[in-house]
Amino acid sequence: MSDDRLARLRTHGDVPHHVAVIMDGNGRWARERGLPRPLGHREGMKAVRETVEGAVEAGVRVLTLFAFSTENWLRPVQEVSALMGLLQRYARNERDELRRQGVEVHVLGDLERVDPATREAVDSIVAETRGGGALRLNLMISYGGREEIVRAARLLADAVRRGEIDPDRIGPDTFSDLLFTRDVPDPDLLVRTSGEHRISNFLLWQLAYTELHVTPVLWPDFERTDLFEAILDYQRRERRFGRVATS
Ligand code: IPE
Ligand code: IPE
Ligand code: MG
Repeated sequence: MSDDRLARLRTHGDVPHHVAVIMDGNGRWARERGLPRPLGHREGMKAVRETVEGAVEAGVRVLTLFAFSTENWLRPVQEVSALMGLLQRYARNERDELRRQGVEVHVLGDLERVDPATREAVDSIVAETRGGGALRLNLMISYGGREEIVRAARLLADAVRRGEIDPDRIGPDTFSDLLFTRDVPDPDLLVRTSGEHRISNFLLWQLAYTELHVTPVLWPDFERTDLFEAILDYQRRERRFGRVATS
């Protein structure tokens, strides 16, 4: 099954260069089983592994995973610490395997809010995987799209105040260059699991022309075949970017 979809997507059309994922549904997965929510998050780690491996197999070059949002800080403190603990575990346990696979990890977001132990673990996975050429993996932690835009606006205002930028020359590219994602093209495909049709403050600027794929699968149940299915769906789309179709 998996190989079939993989073979099809390779011949079907362009593989999206950049795939972004809102990994949602861990809590519902746990609740359906009468388990505490953190066990859903723990199970979600397997889906992260599946997705990273699937992305490498499919030939995706950039994978951006929404792991923890600005608003997620407002969850109960036990859940927040469980999530930070899992992040640390992920960073320590997966480091060698990711390096072997040629995955270069980047961690993007407001990391000043993250506790020192988690920060240290993520800094080390970033350092140890540097140079991996198969896939760039962006882990979005303590990230909010609005906060990212406000941060860019503040940086621009500072540059104007210092006389380094002429306000009349500010354009979309000047702005993009101040976002966390400055080194990567905008996502071609956004996948959201758990059936929710919303953006939840993810990549507000970058998703302007991204194709959206919503699947009812809860994140802990997400497998590489679900990623391949999303890519096949993407390949059936006609991207027009506001223009008329070329035929
Ligand atoms: C996604 O699962 C993980 C994070 C947001 C960190 P949720 O925890 O949001 O699970 P649901 O949406 O409550 O099912
Ligand atoms: C989005 O999911 C954030 C992450 C996946 C990290 P949420 O579960 O936090 O979003 P809402 O509350 O359903 O909008
Ligand atoms: Mg959720």
